[in-house]
Amino acid sequence: MSMSTPQEHLASHPEWLNDWLTRIKALKNLPSLFGMVWAAAPLVLFSSLVCRLLAALIPLAILIVTRVIIDSIYHLTSNHTPLPAAFWWIVSLEFALASLAMIASRLIDFCDGRLADKFTCYINVRIMEHAASLDLVSYEDPRFYDKLERARVQGTDRIGMIQATGRLVQEFITTVSLAASIFIFSPWILFTLILCTLPTFLNETHFAFLGYALNSQQTASRREMEYFRVLGGSKESAKELRLFGLGSFLVDRYRALSHDVHEQTFALARRRLIIGLLFALLGTLGYYGSYAFAIHETVIGVLSLGTLTLLAGAIAGANTNMQAVLGTFSSIAGQALFLTDLMEFFSVKPKVFSKPDAMLVPRPIRRGFEFKNVSFSYPGSSKLILDNINFTLETGERIALVGKNGQGKTTIVKLLTRLYEPTSGQILLDGIDIRDYNLQDLWKEIGVIFQDFMRYELPCSENIAMGRIEERKNSSRIHAAAQKSLADEIIQGLPNHYNQRLGCRFEGGVDLSGGEWQKIALARAYLRDSQLLILDEPTASLDARSEHEVFERFSELTEGKMALLISHRLSTVRMADRIFVLENGKIAEQGPHEQLIKIGGGYAKMFELQAASYR
Ligand SMILES: Nc1ncnc2c1ncn2[C@@H]1O[C@H](COP(=O)(O)OP(=O)(O)O)[C@@H](O)[C@H]1O
Ligand SMILES: [Mg+2]
Repeated sequence: MSMSTPQEHLASHPEWLNDWLTRIKALKNLPSLFGMVWAAAPLVLFSSLVCRLLAALIPLAILIVTRVIIDSIYHLTSNHTPLPAAFWWIVSLEFALASLAMIASRLIDFCDGRLADKFTCYINVRIMEHAASLDLVSYEDPRFYDKLERARVQGTDRIGMIQATGRLVQEFITTVSLAASIFIFSPWILFTLILCTLPTFLNETHFAFLGYALNSQQTASRREMEYFRVLGGSKESAKELRLFGLGSFLVDRYRALSHDVHEQTFALARRRLIIGLLFALLGTLGYYGSYAFAIHETVIGVLSLGTLTLLAGAIAGANTNMQAVLGTFSSIAGQALFLTDLMEFFSVKPKVFSKPDAMLVPRPIRRGFEFKNVSFSYPGSSKLILDNINFTLETGERIALVGKNGQGKTTIVKLLTRLYEPTSGQILLDGIDIRDYNLQDLWKEIGVIFQDFMRYELPCSENIAMGRIEERKNSSRIHAAAQKSLADEIIQGLPNHYNQRLGCRFEGGVDLSGGEWQKIALARAYLRDSQLLILDEPTASLDARSEHEVFERFSELTEGKMALLISHRLSTVRMADRIFVLENGKIAEQGPHEQLIKIGGGYAKMFELQAASYR
């Protein structure tokens, strides 16, 4: 006999059972959710629960008091028995109970509002922290993006679920207390009520599940919609969209996607409405049937008038609360499915991380970096971007990396900084694999400005301080870095100098040209003051002469330090100590400029060609 795996076991059930099992399994996330709520706001959660407990028991208490009042009055009018001594105190008690219910309900709203704020902040911070800890690789995977998107949207949405759970507890206690009182007087009424409410419950959970399935199926479309929406209104796209006349194209694409998504949602909501109505009618029928039965029992003298009042109130209360319990429960079960996404997102772990006993990067680095038989292809692709590469980057050496677009220059930087890991081979620092060093420490010792560097829409000084955020208050170092990168003269020309906000997203901001932004970004690299400085074509928007000026300055400033310059303009890298020419995943030529010119290979030809175009 063969053993079946849990999946096969599950698959052997009919579909409806599978759906249910998935739903029940999703509930296992509830404790972790409540763990998070507790961590976010323990005191508020506790107060809210106490108020709910109080509020839950008041309806039955009021009914019991009412029963005493009515029966006392009945006896007074029919048998002329005097009112009990404490009669008016009992009436006041009912008033006190009603006031207490009102106070509890207001306090619950108050606590829930506070809980929502605290939890939203808590969960967003956790999502941001987690997103920041993940590998670059994750960000290039669309499935990861879907997960991140769902986690982000749903993280905050889950607050409704937390409040629902609080409500569920309250409704459940009320229902049980009222049901117990009904049961004492008539078990049959209770039985009928339960029977008539059950279909609504099953139906609601069923639709909650379908809603989830639809929602996850729509994530990709919703993400695309969001992309078109942002694209249509962003500053970056504004120029091209106008000149190419793409405005209405984007609107049409958005509208088409939005139409599909909303039609699907609408179709489901319509089915839910119709079927839900039918079952709700059944519930109401059960309620009035029971009520009629209780009246009949009173008329024939089995129940007292006070008991009828109690029963009528208890049946009405139990009926609404039972429906509410089932409704709330099924909405929680449905929402718990969304929680799976959030938990899945939190369970994505970075693959690139520091070993537990990782070493600190030597200060100073003695020998430098070495690529040893390094090959690399991007995850999910078989194309070898780097094919068995070997080179060294020694301390005090300025290396230039040149090559046509797409030859893998930036990839080398990503490997050197351990944003990715080699597919095979090793990268050594002072003879030790870089994987043996503490990752944060490694990053601290490498300052990189990428081709697609960030344009932070922050004041100039903070923009530069992003290179070494601990120094954000140290204006003299920030100014010195700006002078090195030639950003100082640009900043001096701005209305608010170093306090000038850049970019035009916020009021009072000033936008810069591409070349000016590059100089600001470069200042970040200078402020970083790390042992290895890398410039990955950040000067591409500068004209050849300005790039030359920036690079010349860079090589002066990095004299005696380790530096890696990347450019496709050969005229600007000749000051490097050694030049590597990257071609078809290999280093085709290497050596100082003069030597490469002398051997008359590809570099010499390319240099001649580019020089000719400037003449
Ligand atoms: N995230 C990625 N996933 C898959 N392929 C990539 C990725 N990034 C770059 N590539 C591919 O790797 C090659 C080298 O890219 P890159 O290192 O950026 O070149 P360079 O900086 O020399 O212009 C290119 O062919 C590019 O298409
Ligand atoms: Mg590049």
